[in-house]
Parts: sequence; structure tokens; C-alpha cells
Amino acid sequence: MGIERLVDTNTHEEDSEEQVLENSLRPVSFADYIGQERMKSNLKVAIDAAKKRGKGATLDHILLYGPPGLGKTTMAAVIAHEMGANFRVTSGPAIERAGDLASILTNLAEGDVLFIDEIHRLRRAVEEILYSAMEDYKLDIVIGKGPAASSVRLDLPKFTIIGATTRAGSIAKPLQDRFGLVERLEYYTDDEIKKIVARTASILNTEIQPDALDLIATRSRRTPRIANRLMKRVRDFADVNGDGIVDKTMAEKSLALMEIDDLGLDPADRNMLNLMLDNYGDRPVGLSTIAALTGDEETTISDYYEPYLMQMGLLERTKNGRRVTPKAKAHLAKYRPL
Ligand code: ADE
Repeated sequence: MGIERLVDTNTHEEDSEEQVLENSLRPVSFADYIGQERMKSNLKVAIDAAKKRGKGATLDHILLYGPPGLGKTTMAAVIAHEMGANFRVTSGPAIERAGDLASILTNLAEGDVLFIDEIHRLRRAVEEILYSAMEDYKLDIVIGKGPAASSVRLDLPKFTIIGATTRAGSIAKPLQDRFGLVERLEYYTDDEIKKIVARTASILNTEIQPDALDLIATRSRRTPRIANRLMKRVRDFADVNGDGIVDKTMAEKSLALMEIDDLGLDPADRNMLNLMLDNYGDRPVGLSTIAALTGDEETTISDYYEPYLMQMGLLERTKNGRRVTPKAKAHLAKYRPL
């Protein structure tokens, strides 16, 4: 990763200070998870039904999808907590070989929840093993090579897979079909983000005034991970430049220093939109061209920049490519000299 973005929705390092903060702020049960109301009620029904069926009943496999930073991992941990189950975590890219998956699966206990982040990045050979594991709790292993090879079927304990992906369409149909529940995480409402910022300030033992809270919330791209990060940065700024109380002036100064504008865009977002405008005006631009202009990977553009920009009506996707909207044009004009 090159330049570190404040509004980056990725956490990068497993045990960075950032990750530690994120973990300490994570809600543990449905009761303290703010937002995603539709999803929570669907999941509660599934969990209550599984519990009612009694011992030996497991929850269906669940696929959570949606833009990064909205709480897929948190939701998965909450589900495990509500089921009273162990929560085990891995990710698509971490499972390199079929044998890695076999060893994870054979070490599961009855009822465990296995969270597979970035499940769309599983290798094909690994994914194929997952099919029968998910469907009949059987593990098919081939022993040996060539004509002497034989295959064995191992029984696995009944477990629940929770897969997470940024786009449901990016996983193969047979894999998608094995999830009994498929749920999309939505961007949070302003009100929900405000509640999350208030909760975070309280966990951080920081006094924050209502207009400062509103300001941080509106700059958070409707994303809890960003809201929490901005809250912590503003808290640090208020500690260094004041008496630690976060008021509107402190929040404004701190956000200005971070170059986060009133729509929550950072310099990288504005740079991308400006490059598109300067080179193509309001004509559509292909994803690969945008990636070449900014020097990012295509998936960085499509998974990290785009969802929020589209949600805000700043970028449109047409069949000929992406197009900067008039709203974005007007917004950008405010931030750069003519
Ligand atoms: N912290 C991060 N996401 C949260 C959420 N959805 N509810 C409560 N606290 C959070």
C-alpha cells in the first residue's frame, strides 16, 4: 500500500494500533450494534429458529456483502456471540492450499462459526473442497498421485460458515448457492453514524459537543470504520491543542488539517475525480483508464473509491464506463482554484 489514506476503509495490519482501537470499539451483541436494522431482524429470526430446534441444530451458512468498513466482521462476531458459538477467523487469500482449508475444517468443533473474509479471493481448488464441506459436512481428500491415488471422505462437525465479500456477484454461483442467508450491509444513516460517534467518544472517555459530533458524522462517509478513525484523530487534536474537549472549532480545524471536505472526500477522491474531469470531461471513462490515471489497482477503484462516490451521486456507472456527475463538478469547483 502506498499513500496512507485517512478515509481508507481497509485496516491493513492485523495488530496495528488501528486494529486494536477497532476491536475495543466493536459491539459484541445485537443490543449494542447500531444500524443495519433489516439485517439484524433477519438474522435474529434465523438464530432464534436454530436455537429453538435445539441441540445439534446449526445456523445456515451466511454470506455478508457490501462495501468495506460497514461492519461485516463485527456482524459475524455478533452472530457467533448470539449463538453462543466459538468464532474462528480466516480469509480467502490466507488459505493458500486445499490442505490449509482441510486443517482448518477438521479442527472445528460442533457449532463453531468460521468467518472467511474476502471469500471471493479463495482459490478454485480450495473453493471446490468447501462445496461438499458446506453442503454435507464431508471433506473429500485425495491421497497420493496418479493411478495409485485414492480418495477418502471424512466427516466434519456441523459448523456455520460466514463469508464476507465486497460484491456478491464476485463469487461463483455454486458457492453462492450454498449460503442459506445472503445479506447486504447498507451505508449507515446520519443518525446511526451520530450514535456510533457518540458511543465511540464515550468509550474513549472524550467529551464531545453536539455540533462537533454532527460535523464528524457528516464527514464519515456513512461508514463506522471511518467515523471511529476521525473521532480518534479529532480527540488527539483536541488533546494537543486544547483541553481535550471536542467542540466544533476543534473538529473543524482537525478535519481541515486532514483535508477532508464537507462531503467526506479526501485528497485521493478529489484527485481521481479531477483527473477524470480534466481528461474526459463528462464523457464516460473505462475502469482501466481510471486506474492508469491514478496509479491504483482497478479493484482499489471499484471496491474502495467508487461505492461511496456513487452513493453520494458524484460518480455514475454507465455501460461505457464511469462518469463524473454535475454534482461532483460543482463540488470540486469549490475546492480548487479556477
Ligand atoms: N462500532 C463500529 N460499528 C458499530 C456499529 N454498527 N454499532 C456500534 N458500534 C460500532
